[in-house]
Amino acid sequence: MPVPLPLSELDCVTARLRAWRMDDLDSLVASANDESVSRGLRDRFPYPYTGNDGRAWLAHAAHNADPHDRAWALEVDGCAVGGVSLHLGSDVHRHSAELGYWLAQRLWNRGIMRGVLTLFVPHAMAELALYRVHASVYEGNPASMRVLERCGFVHEGVAKSAVFKRGRLLDIHVYARTRLAPACDHDPGDHEA
Ligand SMILES: CC(C)(COP(=O)(O)OP(=O)(O)OC[C@H]1O[C@@H](n2cnc3c(N)ncnc32)[C@H](O)[C@@H]1OP(=O)(O)O)[C@@H](O)C(=O)NCCC(=O)NCCS
Repeated sequence: MPVPLPLSELDCVTARLRAWRMDDLDSLVASANDESVSRGLRDRFPYPYTGNDGRAWLAHAAHNADPHDRAWALEVDGCAVGGVSLHLGSDVHRHSAELGYWLAQRLWNRGIMRGVLTLFVPHAMAELALYRVHASVYEGNPASMRVLERCGFVHEGVAKSAVFKRGRLLDIHVYARTRLAPACDHDPGDHEA
């Protein structure tokens, strides 16, 4: 039984966030099959990105099966051309989440991701009782760092030699956007409740 998204749709003017659908396959593969996109992401976002990769992702994401992994398609002009995800923490990390995002290269540098994250992040923090959203940017990805800075994320530091990508050890730059929890003795409610 699919778990409903807490943010089922978000209209971000330049783009729309919505649930992934199985009929996104063609636009997903056309957008994702790009070495420049996969370079900034984990290896589970492969290059080349084949039809089978797309089908496997959609089978997972369209059913929103894992309550800790939430993913939205980023739609521009009616096509899914990117994605935004939140990996929700558990146990003592249950009020924080890791943010991920990507966009088809042909649409870069038009302010699309800035527009999306400016709306999405505060909305998700409120809806999911998150007090920290963080992102890890691999060294050599200034566009991603710039997006986060423009969206109110703070550069918290550098984890040296933290990832091994395309045959190289890379530093990661940790960015976070936080808010203070209300003063109370009890848990202020969370996505695990
Ligand atoms: C990161 C990514 C999502 C950005 O999306 P986007 O819609 O192009 O981002 P925006 O247009 O909103 O903002 C890009 C900013 O980076 C800036 N930028 C682009 N290339 C840059 C460079 N080489 N050096 C410095 N700044 C750069 C742009 O000028 C813009 O800043 P501005 O708004 O102040 O002018 C996109 O590049 C992408 O999908 N990359 C591959 C996947 C990835 O790395 N995801 C992030 C993982 S942490």
